[in-house]
Amino acid sequence: MNETVYKQRRDRLLEMMNDGVAVLSAARLQTRSNDTEHPFRQESNFYYLCGFEEDNSALVLVKSGDIAKVLLFVQPKDETMELWTGKRTGVDAAKERFDLDEVHSIEAFENVVREELKNKKRLYLDLFSEDPRYGVVKQQCRHLVHDRSSTVSPRTFIDITEMIQTMRLIKDGHEIALIGEALAITKEAHHAAMRSAHPGVHEFTLQADIEYVFRHRGAHSNAYMTIVAGGNNANTLHYINNSDVFGEEDLVLIDAGCEYKMYASDITRTFPVSGTYTRPQREVYEMVLDVQLRIIEMIRPGVTKKELQQMSELWLTEGLVKLGILKGEVDALIETKKHKQYYPHGIGHWLGIDVHDPCPYVDGNGNEIPFAPGMVMTIEPGIYIRADDMEVPERYRGIGIRIEDNILVTQEGRENLSEGIAKSVEEIEAVCRG
Ligand code: GLY
Ligand code: MN
Ligand code: MN
Repeated sequence: MNETVYKQRRDRLLEMMNDGVAVLSAARLQTRSNDTEHPFRQESNFYYLCGFEEDNSALVLVKSGDIAKVLLFVQPKDETMELWTGKRTGVDAAKERFDLDEVHSIEAFENVVREELKNKKRLYLDLFSEDPRYGVVKQQCRHLVHDRSSTVSPRTFIDITEMIQTMRLIKDGHEIALIGEALAITKEAHHAAMRSAHPGVHEFTLQADIEYVFRHRGAHSNAYMTIVAGGNNANTLHYINNSDVFGEEDLVLIDAGCEYKMYASDITRTFPVSGTYTRPQREVYEMVLDVQLRIIEMIRPGVTKKELQQMSELWLTEGLVKLGILKGEVDALIETKKHKQYYPHGIGHWLGIDVHDPCPYVDGNGNEIPFAPGMVMTIEPGIYIRADDMEVPERYRGIGIRIEDNILVTQEGRENLSEGIAKSVEEIEAVCRG
């Protein structure tokens, strides 16, 4: 826990705000069924600004001229509740732990915030969240508008998530270190799966191997549902059933990454269950790998994701034509979007606290945001050839391959944060052999 990092982020946000009150609600426990709940996961923007892990909490930033203050509302200590659901930090310990102007019990939220809203023109909030706490705050604004004694009340509502997500685009050293930790664990997990894959094994057994490593190495959860797709299942992009049994000559596509201290990793590897790629598998694999390496090489400050997307479509289409999977002129195939049948998704996405980090891709004028040092993006080209695709040579049918790494943009160009996870045919076959 590095309180200075969070304080710096809050100060930057306050600088960006005009006079007004900002409210950020923590995540809420979600019901799974009847009276059981999903594992709790903190709301990303809230966590980014204060690093507090508990539910039923809220952060309030107040700006008025030169005066700025930050208030945290936490669950009060309660012996009975703590007996059932675990320790709470409580108001006093939160005051000690955080460099904040005020800490209150969440029970005081309505009254304290109502006072802060008086004589402010703007309310900053997560405009699109259905969290009831935002409804409460908007209701308070409504009361103030109707209250004849209060002169000014917030009638301008501004989406605070856009401001925070723009800040989240550039990762600081603290964040890059945590993504690096997540990737060190994810590397071990992928290698463990490569070693334990065999014909006759279930996909979910490899899922268990991977998630066993995550937790043994201190990652509390996955960053997303683990995909273990044998053979033709790899051609279902978000396959999470993971319940088939591997055949002798299957490839297995594993898209899995742990979340470590709230930071995601997102890695895909595709390897042979037998430990050795067949000739056609190897041909497609090396084509995708060649494109992935060339796209990574393109990354440097000033380049845009759109340029990577265009080049990945061009090079993958050229590769498909060379293999005889697509027939015709490359330009015409791209023009008519024929290549989308085999490469239907994007080249990558921002990565951070969320696996699909919701940072902007375009600026306020609709122009692509060029890469700058500190941005982290996945690079994940893939080729998917369904088993029932009678238009491609038989030897390629049923092959689905994606290769995904996590890349940091640096001053000089790029750093592959997932370097070292077996990727070439030789490296993968060596790990598979154990
Ligand atoms: N694992 C999700 C993705 O690759 O986008
Ligand atoms: Mn991804
Ligand atoms: Mn992925």
